[in-house]
Amino acid sequence: MTDPAVTYASYLKIDELLALQEPRSQGPEHDELLFIIIHQVYELWFKELLHELDRVRQWLEDDESHRAQHTLKRILAILKVLVAQLDILETMTPLEFLTFRERLEAASGFQSDQFRQIEFVLGVKSPEALRRFPENSRARLALERRYREPTVWDAFLQYLSREGYAVAPSHLERDVSVPIEPSPELQRILLAVYRDDPKNAEFCERLVDLDEGIQEWRYRHVKMVERTIGTRRGTGGSGGEAYLRETIGRPLFPDLWEIRSQL
Ligand code: HEM
Repeated sequence: MTDPAVTYASYLKIDELLALQEPRSQGPEHDELLFIIIHQVYELWFKELLHELDRVRQWLEDDESHRAQHTLKRILAILKVLVAQLDILETMTPLEFLTFRERLEAASGFQSDQFRQIEFVLGVKSPEALRRFPENSRARLALERRYREPTVWDAFLQYLSREGYAVAPSHLERDVSVPIEPSPELQRILLAVYRDDPKNAEFCERLVDLDEGIQEWRYRHVKMVERTIGTRRGTGGSGGEAYLRETIGRPLFPDLWEIRSQL
């Protein structure tokens, strides 16, 4: 028997894909399909982002900064789509959301392991976030691996050191599971990069774009949460909008922001 010819439907597993949306509300409520599809699409983009972030790290490890920058451009384009998608969900009014919200029980984007993986690879590492997932689950194993792995920022510092910058061993050998803290010593190096090294300064700017892109998503998400559920608690059990507000405005790469006023 020869294998059947590959078709659009067989290659993309369309039948399986279209069977994955299962509303829980009675009826079901009209808007629940949109809610499910948006979240599933986000998870697919998260998967692609992780794939590309790993690529950026690899290109830096190979001293291929031009290619790393090219991949970063793709990541930024995806982030724009992620932010723009919130417009679609904002067409759902608070009352429309309430028609099915209680059927979500404790489900929340708060429990997205891929979102936490993206945070981890960008340096926002938290053992509490990791421990929320059951031991030996796919999510937990993936997060444990990323918890121990160097972040994109670490790969960048290693690359800068190989480019001839005097990055101190305390940075090159730091514990990569600890959050990134600002460092005046690194800022002096970055100032030199910005002043005299256009190629690497350009790369730094793309990292700032990435940082701003993530912050933009956080801001737009919290505004959407505020207009949809006000100050109610989140289904994930947090303080809702109040919790999310605390996550806004915390930069991923603080040194790249600190140097702006010194340039
Ligand atoms: C009506 C739409 C939405 C509402 C009302 C909403 C509400 C919330 C709330 C209240 C939280 C805080 C955690 C908790 O649940 O207690 C949260 C967290 C989160 N949500 Fe949403 N959300 C919505 C749509 C989305 C979408 C479309 C995504 C895309 C994946 C998403 C991803 C996340 C993520 C990743 C977090 C964790 C953020 C963090 O811990 O920094 N949310 N959401």
